[in-house]
Amino acid sequence: MNTDRTSINIIFVCTGNICRSPSAEGIFKSIVAENGLEDRFNIDSAGTDSYHNGEAADSRMRKHAGKRGYSLTSRSRKLNHDDLEKFDYIIAMDYGNYQQISRYDRKGLADGKLCMMNDFSAVFEGLDVPDPWYGGPDGFETVLDMLEDGCRGLLEYLKKEYEL
Ligand code: 4NP
Repeated sequence: MNTDRTSINIIFVCTGNICRSPSAEGIFKSIVAENGLEDRFNIDSAGTDSYHNGEAADSRMRKHAGKRGYSLTSRSRKLNHDDLEKFDYIIAMDYGNYQQISRYDRKGLADGKLCMMNDFSAVFEGLDVPDPWYGGPDGFETVLDMLEDGCRGLLEYLKKEYEL
């Protein structure tokens, strides 16, 4: 991922980087493209854990996302200290992820950059994006509903912030 000072650098973070954050990445990329703003953004995702390092997004997640027209192409990787430094917004899917990133950030590299996906939600304000890994199909649909809402809110926020 080529982060640079002229782009707005966004990374979505969940636990395994195979369900929620790859979906957030795919949805946000799609909304940014609809708005013709691809050139202004670097968009990535990562996990707090490395269990699924190198894996494609979960097949169930890809199937549900695909039905809504999103293609999930990321490969799982663990969040690293470089990410904390390079990205402008580090967006956690749930409060456990938020706490884990805070603890990992011993040097305060993410100070002022760490936020929750639900900070930008209108409909799902205040709610974690729940881990769908052990649940049924409804869980994947809920994740997508929440991420569509949050990603739209995030872009509206950034449009104002950067006068896009
Ligand atoms: P994610 O979901 O954090 O949305 O990618 C998970 C996927 C796998 C595991 C946990 C969460 N796992 O424990 O293997």
